[in-house]
Amino acid sequence: MKILVTRRWPEAAEARLGQLGDVTLNEDDLPLSSDALESALDEYDVICPTVTDRLDGRILGSHPRKARLLANFGVGVNHIDLEAARAIGIAITNTPGVLTDATAEIALTLMLMSARRTAEGERLVRSGKWDGWRPTHMLSVQVTGKTLGIVGMGRIGTALARKARHGLGMRIAYCNRTRVPESVAVELGAERLELVDLLRRSDFVSLNCPATAETRHLIDETALSSMMPHSHIINTARGDVIDEQALAGALEARHIAGAGLDVYEEEPNVHPGLLKLDNVVLLPHMGSGTVETRIAMGMRAVDNVEAFVNDRALPDEV
Ligand code: 8YV
Repeated sequence: MKILVTRRWPEAAEARLGQLGDVTLNEDDLPLSSDALESALDEYDVICPTVTDRLDGRILGSHPRKARLLANFGVGVNHIDLEAARAIGIAITNTPGVLTDATAEIALTLMLMSARRTAEGERLVRSGKWDGWRPTHMLSVQVTGKTLGIVGMGRIGTALARKARHGLGMRIAYCNRTRVPESVAVELGAERLELVDLLRRSDFVSLNCPATAETRHLIDETALSSMMPHSHIINTARGDVIDEQALAGALEARHIAGAGLDVYEEEPNVHPGLLKLDNVVLLPHMGSGTVETRIAMGMRAVDNVEAFVNDRALPDEV
């Protein structure tokens, strides 16, 4: 069984995968070109991609390939054309569940950073231009007790709601295709709203939905104009859930107060309109980036490869 891992994984996960077949690792850890990805489909039985591998319909093609499994390292699979892969008999798996708390932590971090202007404050101290304390210096807004509107109340959205509710006494609103179980709604005091009402009523909006054709540019100029001028938007989902151009415009015109982003439309490129603004916190897609979580993600991907190699049902087939 020939297996390709497209980026470096934590050592323990690479070592375990090594027991399952003839494994090729990416020693240099550089992203694969689309040509290299395309050839890999004819050379390997299993490919373990990540978010940096765009496996679109053109690369997957419409004729049968050697590859039979794409065991994605990560929960989001919007970089893979699922229909095109399935049409040529390639199964796809992901790594759900193991990155829930790590990603919710980054959403919480961004919310606090954006509200409390901490990135701006840090830049000021490092610039050497801080001239000392005064009662009106760098005032920000308190997060405790405010309303958090969560778009996408799956595992990560719910974990964020718990931390915000129990840690910061926030009121929770959410927008989701389905209702959360009654016990969760009661525990969190969570109110289900239509998107436009959630945007109108939330002091903080956090995007935790998957990237699909339906959620592409869900937050566009119109959506942003529904938000309150003191509100902040947080995105740890996928870049293209927000229209970055519209977001840069809304932040610059102060139609909303701030934003905290971990993901971008064209990673690793960030919209130049955002880079020049002080009221946006920019992180380099580090939501799941804890040692514990990255090991767990690798192990979960290996679980799927192991099931495939042993002809068992895939635990996390997408
Ligand atoms: C991953 C993520 O690090 O799992 C996801 O969907 O967004 C990240 O936390 C990355 O996508 C790995 O492929």
